[in-house]
Amino acid sequence: MQASLNENAPIIETVGASKAFAGKEAVSDLDLSVPAGLCYGLLGPNGAGKTTTLRMLYGVTQPTRGLIRVFGMDVARETRAVRARLGVTLQDNVMIESLSPRDNLTIFGRHHLIPEALLSRRVDELLQFLELGSHADMQVLKLSGGFKRRLAVAMSLLNDPELLILDEPTTGLDPAVRHALWSKIRELKSGGKSILLTTHYMDEAERLCDRVMIIANGKSIRQGAPRDLIASELHPEAIEFDCAPAEEQRLFKLVAGDCVKLRSGNRLMVFAEDATPVLDAVHQLDGGDRRPVIVRPANLEDVFLSVTGTQLGDGQ
Ligand SMILES: Nc1ncnc2c1ncn2[C@@H]1O[C@H](COP(=O)(O)OP(=O)(O)OP(=O)(O)O)[C@@H](O)[C@H]1O
Ligand SMILES: [Mg+2]
Repeated sequence: MQASLNENAPIIETVGASKAFAGKEAVSDLDLSVPAGLCYGLLGPNGAGKTTTLRMLYGVTQPTRGLIRVFGMDVARETRAVRARLGVTLQDNVMIESLSPRDNLTIFGRHHLIPEALLSRRVDELLQFLELGSHADMQVLKLSGGFKRRLAVAMSLLNDPELLILDEPTTGLDPAVRHALWSKIRELKSGGKSILLTTHYMDEAERLCDRVMIIANGKSIRQGAPRDLIASELHPEAIEFDCAPAEEQRLFKLVAGDCVKLRSGNRLMVFAEDATPVLDAVHQLDGGDRRPVIVRPANLEDVFLSVTGTQLGDGQ
C-alpha cells in the first residue's frame, strides 16, 4: 500500500507566524512544528505571547504575517474544518454559571451539532471521565474552581477532537485536582489525542510534555524535550542557599571548576557536575555557622529562569 504523503506531516505547523497589536509584535516569527500524538508545551513568562499563539492556531485571531497550518490545512482558509477537529480549553472558563455542568455540556454539544442520542451518551461519558458525576446537576456558580476547570476540559472534549489545546489547564487548582487532571491528560494522550498546552508550572511541563518551546517577548528562545533542555543548559546538580551578592565573589574563588549560577534576590542557585566542592566552599564561607543548603537535581524551572531571567519584566 502506498503511504500517504502527509503521514508524517506535523499536526501543527507555523512558519514565521507573527501577530502585532497596535504596531507592537506580541508574537514574532514563530516556527512551530508539532508531530501528531505528542503532548507539546508552550512555556513563557506572563505576556510572552502564548495565548495569542493559541488564538491564531484555532483561528480567532489572524496572524499579521506568516502561515498557520493545523491538520495540514491553512487555518485562515479552512477555519471551520480545522475547528471541527479540535477542542479548546481557554485560559478563563467560559460557561453558563446559572446552569448545571450537564446542561452546559448539552448546550455546547448542540452548538457542535452533535445528534441528541449521541450527545446524551457523550455527556454522560464526559461527566464520568472527568469525575463530575456527583455535581452534574448543581448550578456551576456553586462549584469549586477544580470542578469548573474539569467542566471546561469536558466541554472541549465534546466533539471528540484529535487535537486538544489547553491554555493553563491547572492554574489555581489544588495539588490533588492538578494530579487528577494530569492523569486525565495522560489518558487522553494514550488514547491517541495530540495535546498542546501552556502552563506556568514547570513541574507540570516536565511531567506531561514530550517537548516544549520556551517563548519570551513573542519569540522562541529554546525548544526540545525537557530532559534534553536541562542537560544542555545546566549542570545536573543544583545547590541552593542564601548568599548576599557581596559574598558571591569569595564563594566562587573557593569553588574550583566550572559551574553556572542563578540569583533571585539573596537566593543563589549554583549548578555543578558535582555538588561536593560547592558544599565545601559554602561551609568555608560560613566559618562554621552552617546555613541551610538544598541539594537537588536541576529541573525545567531552573532552565526557564536561566533563559528568561529572574527579574520581573514589562509583561509581568
Ligand atoms: N487583544 C489584544 N490587544 C492588545 N494587546 C494584546 C491583545 N491580546 C494580547 N495582547 C498583548 O500581547 C502580549 C501577549 O499576550 P498573551 O496573552 O498572548 O500572553 P501570555 O503568554 O498568554 O501571558 P499569560 O501567561 O499572562 O497568560 C501582551 O503584551 C498582551 O498585553
Ligand atoms: Mg495566556
